[in-house]
Amino acid sequence: MATVTAPRIAPQPDHVPDELVYDYDMYNDAALNENAPDRLVDIATNAPPVFWTPHNGGMWFVTRFRLVTEAGRNWENFSSEPFTPEDMAAMMAQLPPDEQIYLPVPILLDPPVHTGFRKPLNLVFAPKAMMAMQDDIRSLAAELIEGVKDAGHCEFMEAIGEPMPVQVFLGMFGLPLERQDEFRQIVSDHLSEDFGEHADSQRQLRAMAKLMESTLLERRENPTGDLISRLWQTDVDGRALTLEDMQNYCILLFIAGLDTVMNAMGFGVRHLAANPALQAELRADPALIPEAAEELLRRYSFVVSTRRAARDMSFGGAQIKAGERVMLYNPAANVDPDEFPDPGTFDLHRENKAHVTFASGPHRCLGSHLARIEVQTLYEEMLARLPEFRLDPDNPVSYRCGPVIGPRAVPIRWDT
Ligand code: HEM
Repeated sequence: MATVTAPRIAPQPDHVPDELVYDYDMYNDAALNENAPDRLVDIATNAPPVFWTPHNGGMWFVTRFRLVTEAGRNWENFSSEPFTPEDMAAMMAQLPPDEQIYLPVPILLDPPVHTGFRKPLNLVFAPKAMMAMQDDIRSLAAELIEGVKDAGHCEFMEAIGEPMPVQVFLGMFGLPLERQDEFRQIVSDHLSEDFGEHADSQRQLRAMAKLMESTLLERRENPTGDLISRLWQTDVDGRALTLEDMQNYCILLFIAGLDTVMNAMGFGVRHLAANPALQAELRADPALIPEAAEELLRRYSFVVSTRRAARDMSFGGAQIKAGERVMLYNPAANVDPDEFPDPGTFDLHRENKAHVTFASGPHRCLGSHLARIEVQTLYEEMLARLPEFRLDPDNPVSYRCGPVIGPRAVPIRWDT
């Protein structure tokens, strides 16, 4: 279990006026916990477009679509690097000679260095490479659904939502399937904590790197067709990859691969289970499923983009100082009423579906092709293999808060 860190409440800085202070702890918000989809619409509608909260050491939130998109593209002002180059150099200087700083790449780098580190992943996550996995993904979905079909009920996350993307990812990565519970736990702990201390975060990232080290070294000597082997064969701006590079890539892919798609699936299945008419419409015309999956991704967005203000600036009505933490709150931006009329409503035929679930700008998600294939395939198989399914009225869905938001459990039932 994750140890819960003491809430770090920061004093309100002089440059933050009272009207921009909004009491929001993204790790522990009672309303988000109880009903994340509604709370996010509330934030996008009623909170200031850019607000400051004293929680978690004090941070800014950008909550509207246009501002989130603009900040996502403006990496010169909104840096993805958590430390300034000077702070980084000072940290490195203090390390014992055999230690390193683990820095998931390319997500914590700014261009132009980011561009060189992103290129190898662009190759391995290209749409064609992902499409080639669809048959295996479909077989896995079918197997998991058939495994619970006769029971007439299941807790969707435990039975299908978690194992499906985790198994797809571990297979693609060439990591041992029998260790999936251990891998999931370490990622889930990592995402449940706001690390006040850099050292705590490093401890967990190091643990992830160590978990994968033997596999990384093995694949360097004996390459197979898996993602780790293919990554070893790439280079960054003409330089061969080192073990340290591979660890930094794999930590990010490990976190992204093990704790993202399942949330999209949980939100999507919860919505379908609550809307039998939509299930009937999609069963009657499965060609509509990709469009429905896209609108579900918009309506239920769950990954936050974390930035550091690289300089003092005026943005969205706020004065932000260099070094302050800024959350580009994609989950709220996607339900901004100024961008999406009636944003809380799932509208299959919505004209504007250009969402920021996968972010915008240089860091937009590299796993989006894989994620889309997985969610679409899951919905196709669930709708084809199960009769009408519905939510369990005795067990309402609750949500896990943090930089990745998701349903904890989605109990569903159907007639057998
Ligand atoms: C529905 C599922 C997913 C969602 C909603 C999602 C969302 C995101 C978001 C919002 C970002 C940008 C973060 C930022 O701006 O700092 C991102 C980046 C990234 N995602 Fe995903 N992701 C998903 C699935 C995946 C999967 C399955 C993988 C790979 C196995 C993946 C790999 C990555 C990588 C490598 C980046 C970093 C890109 C860069 O920094 O250039 N994602 N993702």
